[in-house]
Amino acid sequence: MTLRLILRRPDDMHLHLRDGAMLQGVLPESARHFARALVMPNLVPPVVTAAQATAYLARIMAALPEGAAFRPLMTLYLTEDTDPDDVAAAAASGLVTAVKLYPAGATTNSHGGVRDMARVSAVLDRMAEIDLPLCLHGEVTTPEVDIFDREAVFLDTVLDPLRRSHPALRIVMEHITTSQAVAWVRAQGPQVAATITTHHLILNRNHLLVGGIRPHYYCLPVAKREEHRAALVAAATSGEACFFLGTDSAPHVDALKENACGCAGCFTAPNTMALLAHVFENQGRLDRLEAFTSLQGANYYRLAPNEARITLVRHDTPLAQPDQIFTEAGPVTVFNPGFPVHWQVEP
Ligand code: DOR
Ligand code: ZN
Repeated sequence: MTLRLILRRPDDMHLHLRDGAMLQGVLPESARHFARALVMPNLVPPVVTAAQATAYLARIMAALPEGAAFRPLMTLYLTEDTDPDDVAAAAASGLVTAVKLYPAGATTNSHGGVRDMARVSAVLDRMAEIDLPLCLHGEVTTPEVDIFDREAVFLDTVLDPLRRSHPALRIVMEHITTSQAVAWVRAQGPQVAATITTHHLILNRNHLLVGGIRPHYYCLPVAKREEHRAALVAAATSGEACFFLGTDSAPHVDALKENACGCAGCFTAPNTMALLAHVFENQGRLDRLEAFTSLQGANYYRLAPNEARITLVRHDTPLAQPDQIFTEAGPVTVFNPGFPVHWQVEP
C-alpha cells in the first residue's frame, strides 16, 4: 500500500553550503526540499563580519537554480575580536539569524574560533540584549578529554557556566549526540534548544568502526553508543519544542573523505527527508515528523512556518538511492543509511 504524507515545507536549521563550485553543486540538493536553512559560516576565510555575510548571501542567491524558493538564514562566525556593534547592526537589518560559536580546533575550519569564553562575554551580553541566538558546537577541545566524552564534558565545563553568566542568552546546542545533552537541554528554560541531525538518528559508533572504517560516517561530534542514538530518536520524535532538525549536511569531496586523514561530515541533503520519514515511521511517530522538520525550529527562531507543502510517499518496494552527486569541485558521496529506503519526496 502506498502511503502519502503531506508536510509543511521543512527548514534545515544547520547546514553547510560551502562556497564556489561546491556551493553550486550542493545548493540545489537543499533547495529542492527545504524552504529555509540556517547557513553555517565556517568558510575559508570564515564569515565573521556583516560585510562578509552580505557577500556570502549574494553568492548563495546567485547559485540558486532558476525559480527555487529557498531562503538562506545567515550566521556570523564568532571570534574573540568580533565587534558587538557589527553583530547588532547585522541582526537589526535582518541580515543574520544567529551567531555561531566554534571552540577553536573543534572541527572543520574552526581554528579562528573561541579559545577563552571570557573574551566573547561582551558580544554575548549584547546578543542577549537584542535577542539574537547563539548556536554552538558543543565539544571541548582539551587534548586529554576522550573524543567520545567531549560533548558531555562541554555541558559541565562550558554550558553550565555560560547559562549562569548569561541567563537571558538564547542558546542552540547544535547536533547533539548524547543522552546527557538531551537531558541537559530538557532541563533548561525556553531560551535553550538543540538541533539533531539525520545521521545521528541513524548511526552509532559501531556503524562507523565495525568491519572496517567507514569514512563517510565520520562526522563531528562523532557518533556515540547505541543508547545515545536511542535517546536522540526519543527526543526527535517526542514533539518537545526544544528539539528540531538541523541536518549538519556537510559535503566534502570524496578524495578528502577517503583519505588517510579524512574530513568530518556526512552529506545528507539529498535524502534527509526520506530518511527522517523512515526513522519516524519506525517509532510509530509519523504524526510528529512535521513538528520536528517544519514547526519547532521556525518557532524557536520566531519565523512563521512555511505555507508551501511537500509530499512524502512510501513505496512497497525499496527505492534506488543516489550514490554520489557530481560537482565541479569533485564527486561527493551521499549518505547511505545502510537500510532499504521506501520513502521519497515527490512533486
Ligand atoms: O561533521 C562535521 N562537519 N561536523 C562539523 O562540526 C563541521 C562539519 C563541516 O563543516 O565539515
Ligand atoms: Zn555543522
